Amino acid sequence: MASIVAPVLFIQCLLSILLTTTLAAPINITRETFRTCRPGNWFGNPADCCPPKVIKGPIVDFCPQYDATKPLRVRKALQCLSGHELKTYTRKLEKGYALMRALPDSDPRSLKRQNEIHCAYGTGSFIQDGSTNLTIDVHINWHFLPWHRMFVYFHEKILQKLLGDPEFSLHFWNFDNSVTATPRHGSRGCYKAGHFVPPMYNDPSKATFEANRSFMTFEPNRPVDIALDLSQLNPLLGPPIFPNNTVEEQTRMNREIMHRSMITLANTTSFFGKAYRVGDARILIPSAGSGTIELWPHNTLHAYIGGWMMQPTTAPIDPLFYPFHANMERLWSVWRKLGYGNDDPTDPDWLDATFLFWDENAVMRRVKVRDFVDLNALGYTFEEVNDASWIFFDNSTSPGAP
Ligand code: C2O
Repeated sequence: MASIVAPVLFIQCLLSILLTTTLAAPINITRETFRTCRPGNWFGNPADCCPPKVIKGPIVDFCPQYDATKPLRVRKALQCLSGHELKTYTRKLEKGYALMRALPDSDPRSLKRQNEIHCAYGTGSFIQDGSTNLTIDVHINWHFLPWHRMFVYFHEKILQKLLGDPEFSLHFWNFDNSVTATPRHGSRGCYKAGHFVPPMYNDPSKATFEANRSFMTFEPNRPVDIALDLSQLNPLLGPPIFPNNTVEEQTRMNREIMHRSMITLANTTSFFGKAYRVGDARILIPSAGSGTIELWPHNTLHAYIGGWMMQPTTAPIDPLFYPFHANMERLWSVWRKLGYGNDDPTDPDWLDATFLFWDENAVMRRVKVRDFVDLNALGYTFEEVNDASWIFFDNSTSPGAP
């Protein structure tokens, strides 16, 4: 059965490209979008981060090519790596980021250039098809989840290429899990709390370290604060003030926030954020367009980590951005499995939106949202973790393993 899935997926993907290239309504990034890029802004601050205006070489359509004979690669929870596996992974990460930082600025795969493209997509620097003034943003609307999955996907591909290891997986920071549980006999996965900055990203001797983070992130045993009042998150007012919660208080608040953003407040529309098509003005106020998990825990954690992570103009400079966003997209896949009628949008203006990314060979790829909704087709999956820590927040006496 599984072996016929692959060609079918591939054909569907080709067909969807042929059938939809003429529709104007979904956001569509082209050579022209790059050519007309101009300095944008974020929270009113000017941001000048356009990539080179001329895209060299061809633009190649991306189609997931799922090889059903191969097991899915597993992105694991960082807090459970140990022993030899931890050593090997840390060494690889270190080597990967050292190589990525060493690439010249002319190489679109360098860390600096990856930051640049995130900045351009996140500051209204690109103009919509056929418009002179309407701009594009991949935050504060329904493109937030798929666009960032794509961004992390190509980042992982670039690391694989630099390491010469096509099986390398970018593991995730399980920041949402505040409860260590004992797994039921025979159940697999990682049941340790993960709400601290993963140690390999906090070791000053490693290339994955970044000194430009808030002091709280370096305090051992201090759980992250994802429960911040979002009205405080205005960079023009400076860094937010974090209350001095006890570990117990913080843990409880984090679980409550996760329960709200993933369950209580999250229906199919509110989870993804506001629709955003050609003709729509960029939404500037997070609470007016963001999906539930984009606000909490995403925005609050960016503010908590601080430093480069505070702004979309600089966040991907910090290597912590990537395991953080790997967990964001993991939460998307968990949400889909929760039931409650949770499902991805079926609106073609979401499914057929296309974005451009440089791949691991520095070839420009044209990528469609519909090809990034099915993780299996992309060849990876996530290790199971203790999501019960927030799923069962209401019966908060039993946050144990499923
Ligand atoms: Cu484009 Cu976490 O941001």
